[in-house]
Amino acid sequence: MKDQERAPLYEALEEHRNKRIAHFDVPGHKGGRGNKMLKHFLGEDCLRADVNSMKPLDNLCHPVSVIRQAQELAAEAFGAREAMFIVNGTTAAVQAMIMSVCKAGDKIIMPRNVHRSAINALVICGAVPVYVNPGVNKRLGIPLGMKNEDIEAAVRENPDAKAILINNPTYYGVCSDLAFIVKLAHEHNMKVLVDEAHGTHFYFGEDLPLSAMAAGADMSAVSMHKTGGSLTQSSMLLTGEGINSDYVRQIVNLTQTTSGSYLLLSSLDLARKNLSLNGKEMFKKTIDHAEYAREEINNIGGYYAYSKELIDGEYIHDFDATKLSVYTRDIGLAGIEVYDLLRDEYDIQIEFGDLGNILAIVSAGDRNLEIERLISAMSEIKRLYSKDPAGMFDHEYITPHVSTLPQQAFYSEKESLPLEECQGRICGEFAMCYPPGIPILAPGELITAEIISYIRYAKSKGCFMTGTEDINMNNIQVIR
Ligand SMILES: Cc1ncc(COP(=O)(O)O)c(C=O)c1O
Repeated sequence: MKDQERAPLYEALEEHRNKRIAHFDVPGHKGGRGNKMLKHFLGEDCLRADVNSMKPLDNLCHPVSVIRQAQELAAEAFGAREAMFIVNGTTAAVQAMIMSVCKAGDKIIMPRNVHRSAINALVICGAVPVYVNPGVNKRLGIPLGMKNEDIEAAVRENPDAKAILINNPTYYGVCSDLAFIVKLAHEHNMKVLVDEAHGTHFYFGEDLPLSAMAAGADMSAVSMHKTGGSLTQSSMLLTGEGINSDYVRQIVNLTQTTSGSYLLLSSLDLARKNLSLNGKEMFKKTIDHAEYAREEINNIGGYYAYSKELIDGEYIHDFDATKLSVYTRDIGLAGIEVYDLLRDEYDIQIEFGDLGNILAIVSAGDRNLEIERLISAMSEIKRLYSKDPAGMFDHEYITPHVSTLPQQAFYSEKESLPLEECQGRICGEFAMCYPPGIPILAPGELITAEIISYIRYAKSKGCFMTGTEDINMNNIQVIR
């Protein structure tokens, strides 16, 4: 057992900061002296910790000392064989997982409700997606997990697939049957890659869904910055037995910066220490907060704050009770409208709102005061703004029609057409609401009338539309 009280990278950085070293290296702000405005904004302590890699502080691309030790502690804390610190978001970790096991033409089985980073990886490396449609909850309209029989069928029909990729959990909190998928995949010589952008807490809390490493998965991309307490953009890539992590590092280094931020890296080290020492009680508090808020929001009436009662043993194997996901459509408001009202009228910023749901991220950093503010704002929103729900769009997920591979479509000759004229054409780019960042359209998919009306509706409700070359998404790039 390693000493989880230690934080070797943070300790080395702290020691460095306390020395009176004359810096003739980058960054040029030199502890903030070269940019007084930034120093004033972020504080001198912060800027003096913003240094470049040097021998006593190791090197992210080729870790041999303090970064390596910090990663070893993280690996132990997460029950992984190895852990790699990532400073380019979980996007980079997801892409590295896929690019480590798939080359051009290799198949990968995945649900279609993946984050854009997974499909981006297919554009970059030329792998071929075999989509398993997630179930959709008819009332909530949200995409769920993958059913075991559907994955079995995909494996049977694609015995040459290299890997299965899974969300654990989805943004809304839904988990597929990870243990089953790992067993099935390994029996068929496939790797299991897990997008745990929203699942860091599974490794430390109690009564939470199974984590990827505990399930025996091969790799996992873990957003420490989301629910693990590290700084935004810092993330981790975990590897299990049977993965050559030295090769994975080569893949990571194809695109990773050679100037890894020590602010981000030390935040990973300290977040791991905090989770190891305090995670159990932090996530107990988180679940208690979320359960309380769920109960109170359900008592308001009209809303539906959902949780484990959704588990159906099919498309929902488990549910992450820390997620405060709330269905809003029955009060005649799209989730994005509630999201906007909460921020504009009540100074409450939540994680996202889509067409029928909102998601509030609850953590140990919340106090009763904030939870009560959220509940009373939701109550007032219902009283002041609820409408007749007739005519509202009732689903978030549209089954895609894939006609061309993502890489081929992305690099095809394209033309830009007004949205209204795109029906029947093949999309050459991404279109999505962000968050959650699940593509409505990915390169190579048929643009249908339903998709056009979804985009029109999402825009009219105020969703933040991203992915297209046209910043306003009035036009879409289609294949010529
Ligand atoms: C499921 C999922 N995977 C990956 C990512 C990418 O994470 P990051 O924003 O840290 O790059 C996100 C971001 O929201 C996500 O929701």
